[in-house]
Order: sequence, then structure tokens, then C-alpha cells
Amino acid sequence: MSKKVYIETYGCQMNVNDSEVVLAILQEEGYTLTENMDEADLILANTCSIRDNAEQRIWGRIDQFRIQKKTRPDVIIGILGCMAERLKEKLLEKVDLVAGPDAYRALPKLLKAVTPERPQIDVLLSHEETYADIKPVRLDKNGVSAFVSIMRGCNNVCSYCVVPYTRGAERSRDPHTIVNEVTDLWSRGYKEVTLLGQNVDSYYWKDKNNSNGNTNFAQLLEMVAKISPELRVRFSTSHPKDISDEVIYTMAMYDNICKHIHLPVQSGSSIMLEKMRRKYNREWYLERVKKIRSVIPDCGITTDVIAGFSGETEQDHQDTLTLMEKVVFDSAFMFAYSERPGTLASKKYADDIPQDVKTARLNEIIELQGRMSLKSNQKEIGKLMKVLVEGPSKKNADELCGRASNNKMCVFPSLGEKAGDYCEVEVVSVTSATLICKRIESCLDGIVNR
Ligand code: 5AD
Ligand code: SF4
Repeated sequence: MSKKVYIETYGCQMNVNDSEVVLAILQEEGYTLTENMDEADLILANTCSIRDNAEQRIWGRIDQFRIQKKTRPDVIIGILGCMAERLKEKLLEKVDLVAGPDAYRALPKLLKAVTPERPQIDVLLSHEETYADIKPVRLDKNGVSAFVSIMRGCNNVCSYCVVPYTRGAERSRDPHTIVNEVTDLWSRGYKEVTLLGQNVDSYYWKDKNNSNGNTNFAQLLEMVAKISPELRVRFSTSHPKDISDEVIYTMAMYDNICKHIHLPVQSGSSIMLEKMRRKYNREWYLERVKKIRSVIPDCGITTDVIAGFSGETEQDHQDTLTLMEKVVFDSAFMFAYSERPGTLASKKYADDIPQDVKTARLNEIIELQGRMSLKSNQKEIGKLMKVLVEGPSKKNADELCGRASNNKMCVFPSLGEKAGDYCEVEVVSVTSATLICKRIESCLDGIVNR
């Protein structure tokens, strides 16, 4: 009988893709995936360290996992990912196995060596590992949309951020392996890929034999977009200091490169941005937005915002609010600053904004973004959208949902299409989260090909 692995994934999309790589490695070892922890021989959590509350949640899960040991002492509990890398041996008091983001090839060896008395750990970071040759076992449910990692690690030492310490130095993956992976996904019926990296704009592949064979991100995007005009290409995350005009023009050139850029601003105050070591200021950010919109008028732009970073004054906070009002982001992920041990900020800057002030500012930011999302969605009323169907809408089984090119969620009456079909719809009304649409025509006959 084959051994069973149960895996929970926390944090970013990159972690989802890493779990898929881990499953591919474990499958080779004879493991099959189970969604039921009670029958698993191996329980894994692929973890996130980005904010303290992410880690606290995982500590809670570890206690839950350990309950399994009471009735099944042989079950192995393993922690993977960023928290494994950050806390290292500290986790061994509670679990049997600890493996950092660059150590997944060692999992079979570690699993063979694990005994209750001898927990195993590998948290070595690598300058080369990209898992380029591993074909991830897809975890998505509908077989439509897949994540493809194009690089790993991060070289931007943003002062608040733990990622360079948990994921190591930036390295890009051989573009040919990326194109092969996406071609394979396309041939298996996938309709959308999201190219993933901490900072995709600094993707750069140096061909060892031929300097004309070097590839930057714009060129990689083009290579992937050319696989099929019916394959949607997305990417995340863009860094405002690095997003190039070439990338923006490449997006404009290909219909199937989705018109959406996730462009984390973090703060609207140039003083905070300097202290965060973001290497751009407010004016630079606004100029990049202007450039994007001049080339791609309908481009969706989303962002991340941190409230209450060290020394943030009321004026700095107001600068964030005015920037958000100026840009009118389509949506945003918004966080209260959480000091992370080992980061530059934790060494140099006091976490000196009281929790109640952080919370109040965050709430103001969330409230404003709610209004901006609604405003941005209202502009879409009357427009036609080509939507890639994800499946039935959660609220009403007679309706379908899926995303438009600009990443906005659309719901509309079903004419019997299934996940992976394209539909053409017209926006009739909106909420701050959703575009409510009517049908233009059925796509079952394949008329809608744009
Ligand atoms: N505290 C709060 N938010 C953070 N982020 C990264 N580090 C921290 C931190 N220490 C946010 C940033 C980043 C997103 C992934 O998480 O906004 O873009
Ligand atoms: Fe969390 Fe960042 Fe690690 Fe992703 S890279 S899992 S967001 S800490």
C-alpha cells in the first residue's frame, strides 16, 4: 500500500507552486496525496513568515497535527518553507522534519532517516536551485490555471521584509524549461499561467554559451505568450523600481498577456519609502502608473500597502491615503507593519507605532480602498469583458464566475459552459469586489476567440 501525504500551504502563490514541486518529489518516492489528515503517514505544512500572525497561525496548526501522534505515533510531521528556514532547529522540539525552500530535493533522504529520536533538518539555501527539471504535480482543482515559478529568492533588501533571509538570493530559471513547462500545461488543457517571482522584472537568464541568448523578463513574457494566442499569461510580482517600458510595451503587444500589474507601493510617503529601502519615491511610483496607463489604458493595477511602519507620522499616513486616491487601485492587500526578527528594520528602527494607531490607520486605508475599488469597478459598467470561466459562482449555481483580463472577478448567467471556456459578457452593475455581467453570446461554439 502506498504511503499518504497530507499538505497544507500558507502564504504566497510561490508557496503553492513549491508544494506542487514537493508533491512531485514525494510521488517519485511512492507517496500519494490525501486530503484527510487522519489517514496521512506524512503531514506537511508549507509555511510563511511574512508577518507574525502568519507564524502564530502555523504554531496553532502544529499543535493540531501533534494530536495525531497520540493515536498514530508513526506519523511524521514536517515543516517546510519560510518558517522552516527562519526558525530552523527551534521547530525540531515540536516536529520530526524541517526543510527550507531550497531543500526539497533532500526530502526523500530526510524521510528515510527520520525516527522519533532523530528528527531531520535541512535548511541550506542555494544559489542555483530552481527546481527547473521537476514537473510540479498540480494542486489546483479545475485544471484551468497554473502557477509557474520563473525565479526564486530575492535580492532587494526591503528593510521590513524577511523574504531575502527565508528564500535566499535571487536566481532565474532557464527560459527553455519554463517554455517547456507551459507548453506541457497548454497541451494538458490549461488555459492560464501565472509566472511567479518575488520581483519578476529582474528576471535575467544568462546563456553560458552565447551572450545573444540572454533573456530578460520582457523577452520571456513574449516567448510564453507565443505558445498559443488562446493561452492567458499573467505574472506577479512587479517591483516599481524595476518594471521597464519594454515589459509594458510587450504586454500591450500581445492580447493574451493579461492587462494586470500587481505593483506593491507599500507607502505613499517618500520618507517611509526611503526607510523601507524600496529605492523609488512617490513621484517615481506615480510616473510608472502614468506610463502603464498611457500605454495600456485599461490595465488593472493592484497593490500592497503597509500601515504603521517605524516612525510613520500622521503626514506619512496621509501621503499613503492621497496616493491611493490619486491612483485608484483596483484592489489592494493591506497590512499592519509586523516587525520581523533579523530584518534590517528590526535592527535599525524601533517598531514604535502603537498597535491601536496602526490598526486605526489600517482601517482607514481599508475603508478608502473599498471606495476606490467601487469607483474603479463603476468605470467598467457598459464595457465588454472576455472572461475565462473558473466555475459556478459561489452564491448561485446557475451563474458562472471568472476573471477578466484586468483580473476583476465577473459573475454572469450560465449557458452551460464549463471551467476553461472563454465567455464574452457586458458589465451591467458592480460591487466593490465583483462585476455583475450579462451575456453577449454563448461561447460554446467557439466564436469568441479574441
Ligand atoms: N509587515 C507587514 N507587511 C509586510 N509585508 C512584507 N513584510 C511585511 C511586514 N514585516 C507585506 C508587503 C508585501 C506583502 C507580500 O506583504 O506589503 O508586498
Ligand atoms: Fe510568506 Fe514571503 Fe515566504 Fe511567500 S516568500 S511564504 S509571502 S514569507
